[in-house]
Amino acid sequence: MRAYHLTGSAGRKDLKPVDLPEPVPGRGEVLVRVRAASLNYRDLLVADGHYGSGIPDTLIPLSDGAGEVMALGEGVGGLAVGDRVAGAFYPDWISGPITAAARRRGLGGSIDGVLAEYVVLPAHAAIPVPEHLSFEEAATLPCAALTAWNALTEVARLRPGETVVLQGSGGVSVMALQFAKLMGARVIHTSGSAEKRERLAALGADHVLDHTAEPGWDRAVLDLTDGVGADLVIEVGGPGTLEKSFRAVRVGGAIVSIGFVAGGSAIDPRAIISRCIRLTGITVGSCDMFRAMNRAIGQNGMRPVVDRVYAFEEAAEAYERLRSGGHFGKLVVAI
Ligand SMILES: NC(=O)c1ccc[n+]([C@@H]2O[C@H](COP(=O)([O-])OP(=O)(O)OC[C@H]3O[C@@H](n4cnc5c(N)ncnc54)[C@H](OP(=O)(O)O)[C@@H]3O)[C@@H](O)[C@H]2O)c1
Repeated sequence: MRAYHLTGSAGRKDLKPVDLPEPVPGRGEVLVRVRAASLNYRDLLVADGHYGSGIPDTLIPLSDGAGEVMALGEGVGGLAVGDRVAGAFYPDWISGPITAAARRRGLGGSIDGVLAEYVVLPAHAAIPVPEHLSFEEAATLPCAALTAWNALTEVARLRPGETVVLQGSGGVSVMALQFAKLMGARVIHTSGSAEKRERLAALGADHVLDHTAEPGWDRAVLDLTDGVGADLVIEVGGPGTLEKSFRAVRVGGAIVSIGFVAGGSAIDPRAIISRCIRLTGITVGSCDMFRAMNRAIGQNGMRPVVDRVYAFEEAAEAYERLRSGGHFGKLVVAI
């Protein structure tokens, strides 16, 4: 089968097309013909050698893929050949809170991912995708969408009428905008690009702010909330934006800490204490959360925003577009 390998032990790894034997499903596993895969910021960290330890020297990259079940291993029930599925980011995180053991194995990180024609998945981690989505759209769900869903529904328990701040127009934040509007929240969304701000407004953002403007979007959030602050900030900026988030959230409000695209280093934590902020880190979501999210997407006919679809041979170009930050929503490789 055709696949890609990321190879190299230290620093930036090389992305190489390879020809590999087709995998065979064992007991409790399914063979999936992958039709599309999508990229996440995390895939750049893995490729650049910045994802920490535990990454093999040779790895099939990318966590997010969707395709069709081609064969069932012994003892598999609940799935049939031809079912359309996406693989769970953490195949061992079935339900309940995250555990150290469940976090150990992540597709396209500590174990092989989905940038290949075929993958074998545990049957419980092959999650049926909403019928109305194409494979390209369904391939965007496992990481960015599920992280946004987990942040808003499981961790922050966002309620209709509450105000949420979202940062930038990457995969997680655009999904979060779509879910937040589905849930009846008010969204204040930031982007560094005028064109992207227009697209965020067209997708339903109630207010769009320039996160490069002075005196700063935190000030603007306070102005928009009568000086009170937002109920929730979905934080993808990290040290480079957290102190603004501390100032933009209301006393007793919540921040879900997801990423660190804005760079920066030290954070002064005093505002967390004085403003009684609930600051929670999260990582993607469980198989059960994935199923619940898919029910919501299916019920509401929601469609993920795909920036561009690349051919399999153009996978390296998809990485470069992600690196450039020019994308809006998700980048997909058709397989
Ligand atoms: N914890 C988890 O489970 C989890 C899961 C998924 C992702 N993440 C993390 O979340 C972050 C976002 O991931 P992603 O895949 O959505 O990334 P992405 O698609 O690459 O999005 C990057 C976007 O961030 C925005 N950005 C850049 N600098 C910014 C700043 N100073 N302030 C606000 N926004 C800024 C830009 O949007 P504009 O061009 O519109 O300004 C850019 O397009 C990454 O750090 C990733 O590692 C964590």
